[in-house]
Amino acid sequence: MFQSLKSRVSIILKSNEKSTDERLQAVCDLLRALVPHYDWVGFYFKNGNKQELKLGPYAGEPTDHMIIPYGKGICGQVAVSNKNFVVPDVTMQDNYIACSITVKAEIVIPIFVNGENIGQIDIDSNTPDPFTEADERFLEFVCSLVSKILS
Ligand code: SME
Repeated sequence: MFQSLKSRVSIILKSNEKSTDERLQAVCDLLRALVPHYDWVGFYFKNGNKQELKLGPYAGEPTDHMIIPYGKGICGQVAVSNKNFVVPDVTMQDNYIACSITVKAEIVIPIFVNGENIGQIDIDSNTPDPFTEADERFLEFVCSLVSKILS
């Protein structure tokens, strides 16, 4: 599944006639539609010079969490750690910001531009413990392509 998705994501992100946000939106829509365990897919980006993340394009239920301070929640922790964060069971996390009661698991992968952590892709799943290393490798690939259109 991820192999064919890689080429589709690549085509979307290379479509120069579309704006960056349109391309990121299309990626969110594609991943949410085609990966059964991806129920909410969104991008958060560093908000200017502030130590906070701001929600960018996303697919899924609207969230109240448009702004997330660095260090807060799974997303805010990745903004500080610069590392992938895979949460098999969100109820086991103290530093977690709930977006919806249906969410069971979450994965966040940082996006680097010139070595700087400038944002992330965030995915919520309504399936318990659904993410494997294949998800991490696939999402790292997506983030590396996103990085190219942002730099
Ligand atoms: N659960 C995230 C907040 C963002 S929502 O999942 C859309 C967190 O703990 O950072």
